[in-house]
Order: sequence, then C-alpha cells, then structure tokens
Amino acid sequence: MVNNYDPIGIFDSGVGGLTVARTILDFLPREQIHYVGDTAHTPYGDKPQKIVRDYSLQIMDSLVDNGVKMLVIACNTASCAVLDEARERYSLRRGIPVVEVIVPAVEQAAARTRNGKVGVIGTTGTVNSGLYQRKLTEKGLTVTAAACPDFVPLAEAGQTTGTELLSKCEEYLSPLKDAGVDTLILGCTHYPLLAGPISYVMGPNVNLVSSSHACARQVYSELTNRSLIRPNDRPLTHRFACTRRTSNFDHLARRIMGGDFNGIVDQDTPHSPLTTPIPIVKKVEA
Ligand code: DGL
Repeated sequence: MVNNYDPIGIFDSGVGGLTVARTILDFLPREQIHYVGDTAHTPYGDKPQKIVRDYSLQIMDSLVDNGVKMLVIACNTASCAVLDEARERYSLRRGIPVVEVIVPAVEQAAARTRNGKVGVIGTTGTVNSGLYQRKLTEKGLTVTAAACPDFVPLAEAGQTTGTELLSKCEEYLSPLKDAGVDTLILGCTHYPLLAGPISYVMGPNVNLVSSSHACARQVYSELTNRSLIRPNDRPLTHRFACTRRTSNFDHLARRIMGGDFNGIVDQDTPHSPLTTPIPIVKKVEA
C-alpha cells in the first residue's frame, strides 16, 4: 500500500535523470526523492536492450524495497527497454505507478508542431528501438530521428559547452534541419544539459520538447489524479545515490539540483537504495 509521505524513486544511467528530478521538485517542492544514477554502467545507449533491462529492473527493485510511492524511469533508453515489464511488475503486481519519458514527450510534440514534421534525437538504443518513430507516426506526424552517441559521454564528463560539442551538434542535427522539422524532441534526459548549443544550431523557429520536462508534468498529473501528493507537515530528506562515485556526478548534481542536493549517500547507509552495490551483470527474475 503506497503512502503519500513515501519518496518518489527516480533513476537514470547517470546524471541525466537529474534534469527530471529538478523539474519534479520545481513543480512539487514538497515531494521527497530517492535518486539512483547508474554511473557504473553509463552510458546505457550503446548497450543491448536485455542488459539495460536487467540493470533497470535491479535498480527499480531496490527502490521499491526501500519503499517508494512511485517509480520514474528518467531515461529514454531504459524506458524503451523495460517499460511494459515495469508496468506489469510494479504497477499491476504492487500498485506502484510507473512514469516514463517517451509517451509524455510524444504527446507534447504532437501538441506543439504546426507543420507536422517532428524530429527526435536520442541514444543509439533509443533510436534503434523505433519506439518514438512508431508513436509519432501513429499520430500522423512525419518523423526524422537521429542518434547522437557522443552526447551522453560529453554531458557525463561535464562538457556542456565548447567547440567540440558545437561541432557535434552541427553534425548530428543537420539531417533534422534539412528535413524542416519545427519541433525537436530531446529524447534523452541528458540533453537538456546541452539545450544551449542544440537550440543555437536548430535556430529560433524550432521548438525543443524536453522529455525530462514532459515526464515531470506527467508525474504531477499522476500524483494529483491518484491523490498521492505529499502533505506539507513533515520535514523531508532527499537521497542521491550512484553506483560508482565520480567527481563529475557530484559536481553536476550540485549544479542541477542546487540547494536540494545534500550529497551522495554512502553505500553503507542503512536503507540506501544501494546498500548492496550493483554488480556488472546479475540475473533478474521475471
Ligand atoms: N539519460 C539517458 C536517456 O534518456 C541516457 C542514456 C545513456 O546512458 O546512454 O536515454
């Protein structure tokens, strides 16, 4: 039975999901979050779906064991790999709502486009899964998709500006410009960190739709519709964990989360989502 005071469990391969966490707290500052960045395995985007599925279920199992009221798959690549299974495993069997990034971003892009030409950029895993393309095409939209494999490693390294990034943007985004898209989905939760150069290259007439922002809106709706909003009468403590400590995670978490970041929990902390460090490969039972 979920409790309104319980935290929201959020995970990603690394720092990208913090852009979702940031927006959730902007919309819902009284909510408490437990965040896990799977920095030991980042990036997810170049890994087979089966591996990403196993990592994702392991993290979500640990968040559920630690008592979250909602799970947020703050990663497009993981959403493509595990969404249906996660809904079955946690929502249907345990009554814990699962929110992901893809459908909310598709809905927002469909609402915003004027010429019906939508672009989507994401990891190789996300683009190759074809999920965005399918969902956008079902809405009668013309889709141009491009994988941007170097964006996540650059963002994880804290490189969110500079000439190398700008020339990567020129290279990856040129097919989308040629296709005349008026709306571009940032189909990776790391990409809002690169929104400056992406927007600069695409120009002022192209709407950027952030899957992170769209996901946070969905979290707001789900909590409201299910009467799961946290009351305002108790103190709260956020918890941030990563599967491998990196100075960049710490640095970027401070930058993105500002005063909401209270340090990375120690893996030995009781009830930490990562009391047991995540091994490289572990079989997850269905
Ligand atoms: N933030 C993840 C996503 O939205 C990044 C995936 C990766 O680690 O490659 O897809």
